Amino acid sequence: MRLTIEYYLLPPEKRRFPRSENLENPNLYHYALFSDNVLAASVVVNSTILNAKEPEKHVFHLVTDKLNFGAMNMWFLLNPPGKATIHVENVDEFKWLNSSYCPVLRQLESAAMKAFYFNQGHPSTLSSGSSNLKYRNPKYLSMLNHLRFYLPEVYPKLDKILFLDDDIVVQKDLTGLWSVNLHGKVNGAVETCGESFHRFDKYLNFSNPHIARNFDPNACGWAYGMNIFDLKEWTRRDITGIYHKWQNMNEDRTLWKLGTLPPGLITFYRLTHPIEKSWHVLGLGYNPSIDKSDIENAAVIHYNGNMKPWLELAMTKYRSYWTKYIKYDHPYLRGCNLGE
Ligand SMILES: *[C@@H]1O[C@H](CO)[C@@H](O)[C@H](O)[C@H]1NC(C)=O
Ligand SMILES: *[C@@H]1O[C@H](CO)[C@@H](O)[C@H](O)[C@H]1NC(C)=O
Ligand SMILES: *[C@@H]1O[C@H](CO)[C@@H](O)[C@H](O)[C@H]1NC(C)=O
Repeated sequence: MRLTIEYYLLPPEKRRFPRSENLENPNLYHYALFSDNVLAASVVVNSTILNAKEPEKHVFHLVTDKLNFGAMNMWFLLNPPGKATIHVENVDEFKWLNSSYCPVLRQLESAAMKAFYFNQGHPSTLSSGSSNLKYRNPKYLSMLNHLRFYLPEVYPKLDKILFLDDDIVVQKDLTGLWSVNLHGKVNGAVETCGESFHRFDKYLNFSNPHIARNFDPNACGWAYGMNIFDLKEWTRRDITGIYHKWQNMNEDRTLWKLGTLPPGLITFYRLTHPIEKSWHVLGLGYNPSIDKSDIENAAVIHYNGNMKPWLELAMTKYRSYWTKYIKYDHPYLRGCNLGE
């Protein structure tokens, strides 16, 4: 609240971030971070910069929503990430992202969809039942979440971008990701089918002929949250068009239920290049038995799951990997009762 008010009290010339000439320079390292959580976004940015060998070459493209736009700007104006570049945009200002262009927006806006989300007891997962609550989370309604399918539209001047979720911590210099050979593929991601059967049939409805005809039920799943995207290949292969086609076919939600991973698996099918697992270690938001050395050797750790490090629910043994990037003596944070 305090940040929001202070932002709107600033004269327009004080609302600008420095080094805006870097925003479209394809020779720098660009990150896409879509978040409505100031503290989480700040940890992502701080941890990336503190572990970067050449911080001045890193550029953060933060997109938030209308509600958090003032606070997000004010925080990073007051706490700039050293010599790195940052800017903040408001997803509600993207006029091209409207319901005549974007099927998911059209679907989200329909009354039927809203009833579906909020009707209690409606089966909403393929397996249904217990995890129902998760799918009534308004998070699934947010356009911020679906913006990942429009990266070349948001960043038309860039060749490559690293997409980061806001529930991650960066522990190493990430520049090596820009030189991983993707072999003509569009998405560089870690695969997840090793441990717990994260294969396509877990996410997609193989009783549906469209799914059964086009995909292998045993194909390996991969993780969102730290993905290197080749935006030139994306445009050349019309990835957004592929996504739109399938999203339109899923109007009645028979191909998959909710979330962005199932349409991601479809959209980037055979267009995903597996990267080395230590780039991205997952599960810190639900799995209590991740190997300590795997966590400590990871370039990026990901608190996917419900036990986010900023919640009281967080698993204590994983919390310090996140909290070490927060200055608890910061005057704005002291008022927030975060608990160390
Ligand atoms: C909706 O988006 C399309 C393409 O992204 C654009 O051409 C059109 O002008 C937009 N409509 C409005 C009302 O902004
Ligand atoms: C899976 O697809 C089939 C065929 O379209 C459909 O009848 C069935 O209801 C779908 N299953 C779910 C859980 O949506
Ligand atoms: C991130 O680093 C900046 C600059 O060192 C600092 O001002 C800010 O408080 C840090 N963020 C958090 C969440 O502590």
